[in-house]
Amino acid sequence: MTALKGRISLPGDKSITHRAIILSALAEGPSRITGYLPSEDCQRTMAAFQSMGISIQENSDRGLPMLEVEGKGLFGLSEPVDVIDCGNSGTTMRLLTGLLAAQPFFSVLTGDQSLRKRPMRRVADPLRMMGAEIAGRSEGNRAPLAISGKRLRPIRYDLPIASAQVKSSLLLAGLSTTGLTSVSEPGPSRDHTERMFDYFGIPFKKEGNVLSVEGGFVFRGKMIDIPGDISSAAFFLVAGSIVDGSELILQNVGMNPTRTGGLEVLQSMGANITIKTQKSRCNEPVADLTVRSAALKGCVIEGDLMTRAIDEFPILCIAAAHAEGKTLFKNASELRVKESDRIEMMAAGLRGMGITVETFPEGMAITGRSDWKGCDCKTAGDHRIAMSMAVAGLLTEGGNCIDDVDCIKTSFPGFIDLLSSLAET
Ligand code: S3P
Repeated sequence: MTALKGRISLPGDKSITHRAIILSALAEGPSRITGYLPSEDCQRTMAAFQSMGISIQENSDRGLPMLEVEGKGLFGLSEPVDVIDCGNSGTTMRLLTGLLAAQPFFSVLTGDQSLRKRPMRRVADPLRMMGAEIAGRSEGNRAPLAISGKRLRPIRYDLPIASAQVKSSLLLAGLSTTGLTSVSEPGPSRDHTERMFDYFGIPFKKEGNVLSVEGGFVFRGKMIDIPGDISSAAFFLVAGSIVDGSELILQNVGMNPTRTGGLEVLQSMGANITIKTQKSRCNEPVADLTVRSAALKGCVIEGDLMTRAIDEFPILCIAAAHAEGKTLFKNASELRVKESDRIEMMAAGLRGMGITVETFPEGMAITGRSDWKGCDCKTAGDHRIAMSMAVAGLLTEGGNCIDDVDCIKTSFPGFIDLLSSLAET
């Protein structure tokens, strides 16, 4: 296999792009968003706000893509005349459920086959405690969700699982509700909503693990510059680690500590990653990363570290499959309700490559080996499974044949071309 060499810039962070669009739409006046991710998931959030009367234009600033959003304030949205299709995007659906529950109109949210299977009670139930009227399939747990927006009452809610989507959904509902809405977290989930609240100057408090927002605050549009997505960088951190002789420089990668779990796991496995030129962009830390190939060894990933590495699980499985010894993923039951059941999908892919895998209800164990064989892999339309199996294909005998690479545009348009271009130089 040819060594991977090069310097790349990652596409913008997906979680931050969703939040930038949402808060810009709720702000008063214009916002400009640079470095945003033009992927299908984020376009779903954009289209949702356009269907509620918000002008969002894709433009460019010195050759770089830029979004211009004309916010209309907290209650400036208009009733969408049709169903809002969130596609594959759980973040779009869960965050909008909270926001729309507190808006004075009727709306319906649906999604693709995968999203319609995912649990929505985790957001709908606490919103119902605030007085929200949300109907859905499977006794109100699955999309399509029909939301009869109304004035809500603030609550204090203890999240049973660490979930940034649930937390953000409740904070967005709280933003449009008179009084103080508080949410406590059992563990650290990504905090981009909180950082962006702060960036927009929205009154927001964090005391220990309790987050509170005061509703009704009027805030103005801003310039937002979004860092590269560390979850997208992870595919190259693993590829650069396992392909012999590689050296990749990844520029402007978001280094929010609630998102660096995957990087820390790789470092504990012996990956050779250096972190340089740390700075801050719109309240989010960023850095340039250099990865050089290295021999990896197995490790145990559990607790908060698992939460902070949750989206990196599929590509960490590939690192584990190449490592010496066993890697154990624990406390990972959330992986069963992501875009696919990622534990079963990765287990099937790895077994096809000849790797020994055990699965458990809450995790997985992988015994690494270096002689992989190519296989036919199924993705269930899950972008991160497709990208992980493509990276693995670099080292398999005969390559991997992936049933769906189109789904990659959910989070990383251009991924296959970028990966191939690095292998050619
Ligand atoms: C996200 C939160 C995480 C993550 C997802 C994006 C977000 O999900 O897995 O890909 O943007 O808030 P949970 O909220 O279920 O932890």
